[in-house]
Amino acid sequence: MSKEIVVSGIRSTGYLHLGNYFGAMRNYVKMQDDYNCYFFVADYHSLTTHPDPKDLRANVYRVVAENVACGLDPNKVALYAQSDIPEIPELYLMLNMLAYKGELEKVPTFKDKVRLNPDNVNAGLLTYPVLMTADILIHKAAHVPVGKDQEQHIEMARNFAQRFNHRYGDLFPEPFPFNFGDTLVKVPSLDGNGKMSKSENLNATLFLADDDDTIRKKVMKAKTDSGPTEMNSEMPEYIQNVFQLLNLVSSKETIDTFTNTYNDCTIRYGDLKKQLAEDMVAFIAPIRERAQALQADESQIQKILKEGAEKARESAAKTIAEARKAIGISYYG
Ligand code: TYM
Repeated sequence: MSKEIVVSGIRSTGYLHLGNYFGAMRNYVKMQDDYNCYFFVADYHSLTTHPDPKDLRANVYRVVAENVACGLDPNKVALYAQSDIPEIPELYLMLNMLAYKGELEKVPTFKDKVRLNPDNVNAGLLTYPVLMTADILIHKAAHVPVGKDQEQHIEMARNFAQRFNHRYGDLFPEPFPFNFGDTLVKVPSLDGNGKMSKSENLNATLFLADDDDTIRKKVMKAKTDSGPTEMNSEMPEYIQNVFQLLNLVSSKETIDTFTNTYNDCTIRYGDLKKQLAEDMVAFIAPIRERAQALQADESQIQKILKEGAEKARESAAKTIAEARKAIGISYYG
C-alpha cells in the first residue's frame, strides 16, 4: 500500500526553538518511517519580513542542520528549500485567483503582523496562507504536522483545496493538521506571555542553539510567585506553563515529585526551576552540538538540499501538470 503523504515547513527566520521542536520537528521524526514525507525550509515565506540577503543562506542552512540534529533522516524524507521548487509559486499564482481579499484580511496572523509592522503590509504577507496552501497541495498531502498556531492556516488550505476542486474537478485531498497527541501543541514562553517565538519574547524562548548557561539563566527567570497557600489549589497559568515545560523534558518521577509538593504547598519554585534548567540543558545540548557540527559541513547541507529538491520536484511536476490541465492551460498536443 502506498504511504500517506505528509508536508510541513519551517520559516527560515531566526533560530529554531523548543516550540518548533515540540510543535513540529518531533512529529516529523516520528513520521519519517511510516509516511511519505516532504519537509522544507520556507525561505519564500521568510521574505515577507525582508531579511538581509546576506543572512538568508546561513538561516536556511541552520534550519536544515537543526532538523537533522533532531533526528530527521534526509534519506527517508525529502528535505528541501521551498525556493528550489518552482512549481510551488506556479500553484500559488493559480490559487491566488481563488483567494479573496476580505477573507485574507481577516486572518489573525495577518492582523498581528499589521499591528507589529504597520510599515510593511505587503501583498506577500496578505497571501501568506495561499503560499502555504500551495506548499501543501503541491504534493497532495493529507497530513500537516504543525503547532497550534498554524491551525487556522491549515483550515484555509482546506477551503482553497475545496474551492479548486469545486471549480475545476477533484484534484486535491483536504489537508488536516497533525499531531501524535490529541491536541495540537503550543509551547508557552517562560515569562507567562504567549508562546515561544522566533521573533518575539526572545529572552523567554529557549532556542536549540542556546548554550548551557543561557538556558539556565532563561529558565531561572521564568515567572513564578511565592507559592500556593491552599492545598490542591488550581495553578495560575504561568505556573502551569512551567509544569508544561517540565512535562516535555523531565522524568515522570521529577514531574510527580513537584506536582505533589505543589499540592501540599511545600514546593520551592527555585528548586523546580533548577531541575527544569538541568533537564533542559540535557535535552538541548546534544541537539545543539550535532547541529553545530553539521552546519560546519556546507557541502553536506548542499547535498541534502539538492537531493531533497530532486525528490520534491518529481512529485510537484506531476501535480502542476494536472492542475494546468484541470484549469484548461493545455495548448499543445
Ligand atoms: P514557523 O516557522 O513559525 O514554525 C515552524 C513550526 O513550529 C511550530 N511552532 C510551535 N509549536 C508549538 N509551540 C510553539 N510555541 C510554536 N512556535 C512555532 C509551528 O506551528 C510550525 O509547525 N507558516 C509556517 C511555515 C510554513 C508551513 C507551510 C507549515 C510554510 N508553509 C506549509 C506547514 C505547511 C511558519 O511560519 O511556521
